Amino acid sequence: MSSTSVNTIEALKHRIETREARVGIVGMGYVGLPLALLFSGERFRVTGFDIAADKVSTLNRGGSYIVRILPESIEEAQKAGFRATSDYSEIAAMDAVIICVPTPLNEYHEPDLSYVTGTVESLAPYIHDGQLIVLESTTYPGTTEEVMVPLLEKGNANSLKVVRAEGERGVHVAFSPEREDPGNDTVARHDIPKVIGGCDAGAVELGSALYGSIFRRVVPVSSPAVAEMTKLLENIYRCVNIALVNELKQLCMRMGIDMHEVIDAAKTKPFGFQAFYPGPGLGGHCIPIDPFYLSWKAREYDFRTRFIELAGEVNVNMPYFVIEQTAAALNEHRKSIKGSKILVLGLAYKRDIDDLRESPSLTLIELLREKGADVYYNDPYFAKVGRGRHYDLNMTNTPLDNLRQYDAVLIATDHSTYDYQGIVAQAQLVIDTRNATKGIRSGNIVRC
Ligand SMILES: NC(=O)c1ccc[n+]([C@@H]2O[C@H](COP(=O)([O-])OP(=O)(O)OC[C@H]3O[C@@H](n4cnc5c(N)ncnc54)[C@H](O)[C@@H]3O)[C@@H](O)[C@H]2O)c1
Repeated sequence: MSSTSVNTIEALKHRIETREARVGIVGMGYVGLPLALLFSGERFRVTGFDIAADKVSTLNRGGSYIVRILPESIEEAQKAGFRATSDYSEIAAMDAVIICVPTPLNEYHEPDLSYVTGTVESLAPYIHDGQLIVLESTTYPGTTEEVMVPLLEKGNANSLKVVRAEGERGVHVAFSPEREDPGNDTVARHDIPKVIGGCDAGAVELGSALYGSIFRRVVPVSSPAVAEMTKLLENIYRCVNIALVNELKQLCMRMGIDMHEVIDAAKTKPFGFQAFYPGPGLGGHCIPIDPFYLSWKAREYDFRTRFIELAGEVNVNMPYFVIEQTAAALNEHRKSIKGSKILVLGLAYKRDIDDLRESPSLTLIELLREKGADVYYNDPYFAKVGRGRHYDLNMTNTPLDNLRQYDAVLIATDHSTYDYQGIVAQAQLVIDTRNATKGIRSGNIVRC
């Protein structure tokens, strides 16, 4: 490396070590906000960037819009200099910028990179020599180098380049996937190793210094594409294994075998087996979406990702399977879905979180309504649910009382605050898609 670029890298590493480095995080959502708090907790002065004016003002008021993040944590971060803004010109004052914006699919199930490209175009005019820019949003291999780097270079007035080789000057760019597991309190966030791949060795060195100050272990890889693919492998692994247990659950039901008992027995094997659990379908921002980023990219290489497609097919079918089981259970009581009053328990895509993106509960409600049911929901995390990218429900939370009035109570999300024994005791019929009623022998329960 030239002595100037070595000096720039060493100077920023020193600023990171002494906590003088200013960290900008773009996207104050489920990923970006907790990350900002981790850096603030380590005494970095953090600026959160977001285009949503309501989020910016809530944060600057010391408030929070994510249930598991308490306003006290925001206030604490403010004492360390945390504030939020929508003004991209402040990027110029940052030593490091981490991008955590959404990467959804469009209506044709293809990657929608518009949030990433929009962000990069907005910040490009303000980037500067020696700055570190890291993309954390989940995406297909090639995004950092093929999409982000050209936009950064095109968008700044000073003809600043992204550093690709030793000795060059410019901005350092890396990809480092987010690995958060919302609602999982068994692993502290700082204990989750942080993978990073850079466009040059300096980006990895700087990224390792920065992330090394909040994560116990940083795992450098040889390129952004390897880091991008690592994240997809992790999520595809989950998606395929969940599809496997969802399929085997359906077989087990026909054979009169309890799939959950089978999984509990199998997971006693101390090697070579990891437990995955069946459910009413996939939810969340990651598992139902990320695999399709890869299958889309694979087409460029004339390659079909058959495992992803098959897993998608099985998982997408799960809410339909649950509806069939509900219809069959009502039939046993001489009732039909049409005209039945059904309470769906749990809207969130998984237990104890306030996130309903891609939640199978939304599909279940829509399918039940299509079939003529009178549908209600209860979820302590959502007072009401209106319109999202893929649904338009316009419903409000129903209190958990007088359960006898419903023809069926459908457990779609197994929040730990529910009293399942009490629910089973009161309800005429319980459809349990999560094994939440495990061990309850009395009552009218259909586990599916
Ligand atoms: N939520 C998770 O558990 C999780 C886990 C691993 C990876 N990821 C990935 O992390 C990324 C972010 O996910 P998330 O759950 O935090 O999303 P989110 O929707 O909760 O937050 C994204 C934030 O970015 C903001 N934003 C959008 N465009 C912007 C722009 N141009 N400039 C500034 N802000 C902008 C939005 O207003 C929003 O506040 C996604 O790629 C996702 O796949 C999420």
